[in-house]
Amino acid sequence: MTMKHIFKKGHNPEKPVLLLLHGTGGNEQSLLTLAPMIDAEASVLSVRGNVSEHGMPRFFRRLSEGVFDEEDLVFRTNELNNFLNEAATKYEFNRDNIVAIGYSNGANIAASLLYHFSDALTGAILHHPMVPLRGIALPDLSGKEVFIAAGTNDPISPQREAEELKAALEATKASVDVHWENHGHQLTRSEVEAARQWYQRRF
Ligand code: MLT
Repeated sequence: MTMKHIFKKGHNPEKPVLLLLHGTGGNEQSLLTLAPMIDAEASVLSVRGNVSEHGMPRFFRRLSEGVFDEEDLVFRTNELNNFLNEAATKYEFNRDNIVAIGYSNGANIAASLLYHFSDALTGAILHHPMVPLRGIALPDLSGKEVFIAAGTNDPISPQREAEELKAALEATKASVDVHWENHGHQLTRSEVEAARQWYQRRF
């Protein structure tokens, strides 16, 4: 298969598959402890980004901090979507019921999946995301559930990025909830708890 990953089969096949997407410098191990906090019964697919930035795994290249290589972003978004197709066949899970949980660079590739495909994800928990790219027509995302956790003082993923992302997704008819934190770019315990509560209401 084309991407390094871990798959853990859950106890309840009716639950969404939780797709874990790490931040820059993380790997397929980094977010494993998050999944049971959100849904202890769900299957988990945790993926390592195929790009290396000075040895740090990422899901797509960037030209500098906050400036994305858009050609690579589009290529890698397709690569990840194709990988999800392959993984669903190999592990025999429902391809139409995947909820991404991404942090930072992982949240950005999850947002890019939503920006490019109407059927890649059924929902997404985006911790400290940015707008993945601008100037493209987004698909109809009616029925998709998105949770954004963002920082009012996040120097890497500024507040205005989360606000623009929310507006763009809502314009496609996705349902978007935003939770604000005040701890910079950190993935905090309290935003995971807010994500858990949101997920329990939605799925
Ligand atoms: C990125 O995708 O570059 C993120 O927003 C920042 C990071 O992962 O460090």
